[in-house]
Amino acid sequence: MKQQILDLLKNGNNTYVSGEELSRALAVSRTAVWKQIQTLRREGYKIDAQSRLGYRLREVPDKLFPGEIREGLKAELLAQNIVYRESVSSTNDLAKGLAAEGAADGTVVIADEQTGGRGRRGRPWVSLPGRGVWVSIILRPRISPAEAQKATLMAAAATHAAIRRVTGQVVGIKWPNDLVCNGRKLVGILTEMSAEMDSVNYLVIGIGTNVNVPEELFPAEVRTKAASLMMLTGEPVSRLAYLRALLEELENGYRRFTSGCFSEILEEWQKNCITLGQKVRVEGPGFTGVAVGTDPDGALLVRKADGEIVCVTAGDVSLCNEDGTYC
Ligand code: BTN
Repeated sequence: MKQQILDLLKNGNNTYVSGEELSRALAVSRTAVWKQIQTLRREGYKIDAQSRLGYRLREVPDKLFPGEIREGLKAELLAQNIVYRESVSSTNDLAKGLAAEGAADGTVVIADEQTGGRGRRGRPWVSLPGRGVWVSIILRPRISPAEAQKATLMAAAATHAAIRRVTGQVVGIKWPNDLVCNGRKLVGILTEMSAEMDSVNYLVIGIGTNVNVPEELFPAEVRTKAASLMMLTGEPVSRLAYLRALLEELENGYRRFTSGCFSEILEEWQKNCITLGQKVRVEGPGFTGVAVGTDPDGALLVRKADGEIVCVTAGDVSLCNEDGTYC
């Protein structure tokens, strides 16, 4: 009922809709309408009430509510099940729990704030309320565990495209799936899976995008290494517009991926990858070399000084700066 009232107020286009009209359209009492208006106000919708005139929607809050996301969203699969929470520990953890209970392919889990956001290799991921898009997608592709890396690359290519569409800025993909600009990280992607020996049960692709985070709000330890879309454009970016573009690009990428077109996705990813052709250090083993390409699954091929080519499937890779240091 709440969503219907909201839709009717939105149709009113900034004009008053009478309480009587609302109660008639929904076949409920005017008191019931009033209660829903109060709930909407508590959620942040600014609604004017005037005796004899009715209600007028003045302002929609900057929140990623499912109803708002779906408005104008050109997606099918990723529009079906959208789970929203004001605050969670981690959207990946919530998504994994839902997936284990049978949540459908394409379920989207989104939160305004994460209190225990996680990055790769157990690192924390700072997820301030209202400042970013912290989202996890449950996918159930029919693939082997070895192919899961391809889905992560697909997500990075889709995120790249969404940023370009919404901000007009072309950022870089740092292998395997960080989105960076001027050496600072804008987006991190954490893919987790449940699998049998030969088949994936589900993937959870968690994407964290710093949208409207001013530099001073990043914790001191990442302040010089992190960036946000707002820092790129110089003005606030609509989280809703960005999330819609991201879901549309992800759906498009997922369809291509599941219909056997990964090579197209990889080509796009390679075009935007800033790691290729660079001198790199592979963290962990700690060897250096030149990133000469990827294998067909997206693993990084690094040519060492002795000419040996090493295939790197997981881990962190640092790029060599002009002064010979790595970052
Ligand atoms: C990384 O670069 O280390 C990956 C960061 C991934 C962060 C996202 S935010 C949404 C989802 N939930 C999490 O706890 N992590 C991912």
